[in-house]
Amino acid sequence: MKPPETIRTERLILRKPRVDDAPVIFETYAQDSEVTRYLVWKPHQNIQETYRFLSALEQLWQAGKDFAYTISLKEDDSLIGMFGLHPMKMKLEVGYALARPYWGKGYMTEALRIVIDWAFTQPNIFRVQAICDVENIASARVMEKAGMSREGLLRRYVLHPNLSDEPRDSFMYAIVR
Ligand SMILES: CC(C)(COP(=O)(O)OP(=O)(O)OC[C@H]1O[C@@H](n2cnc3c(N)ncnc32)[C@H](O)[C@@H]1OP(=O)(O)O)[C@@H](O)C(=O)NCCC(=O)NCCS
Repeated sequence: MKPPETIRTERLILRKPRVDDAPVIFETYAQDSEVTRYLVWKPHQNIQETYRFLSALEQLWQAGKDFAYTISLKEDDSLIGMFGLHPMKMKLEVGYALARPYWGKGYMTEALRIVIDWAFTQPNIFRVQAICDVENIASARVMEKAGMSREGLLRRYVLHPNLSDEPRDSFMYAIVR
């Protein structure tokens, strides 16, 4: 799988992250415990963590294992979040997060729809899936609006360390072609 380095939607630009995105990512959402509440990582305590996070993402891109994108607004180029593509055999798993001031404006639904459209142009991808915590209503709604279906409840499936030290129940959403 060779994803493009840039993906454009009506209002957004998704591009390959750079290590020097660290200050804005740290400031806008990586240290925010509301944003990370349902994520698999804890809020960053300092900017060095964000630098390490971005250099790990860069290595994953280079290794062709995992493809993260920053999300920026076309209108003023402000960086507002991130979108991750995690290829699995014949399917693609996705994940995403947005800085709080940008919630509720339809941005993530817009990004997810375009990623799904792109994925289904790839001959080897038949399924796009994502997992969300059972309490993450906003994320579940985004997936529903993008045409994904809730396929099931995965019990004790993912560790969300900001909520519990034990794995939590999650919903599996997917769309297939
Ligand atoms: C989940 C997230 C990406 C959604 O992005 P977004 O751009 O705000 O999403 P959208 O605006 O496209 O859609 C959000 C939908 O959820 C709904 N919603 C949000 N919070 C809700 C709540 N507490 N109860 C009910 N509906 C809710 C919104 O009303 C909207 O639906 P609508 O268009 O039918 O009104 C964003 O909230 C986020 O970054 N959260 C933190 C990180 C995260 O949890 N990522 C996902 C991990 S699985």
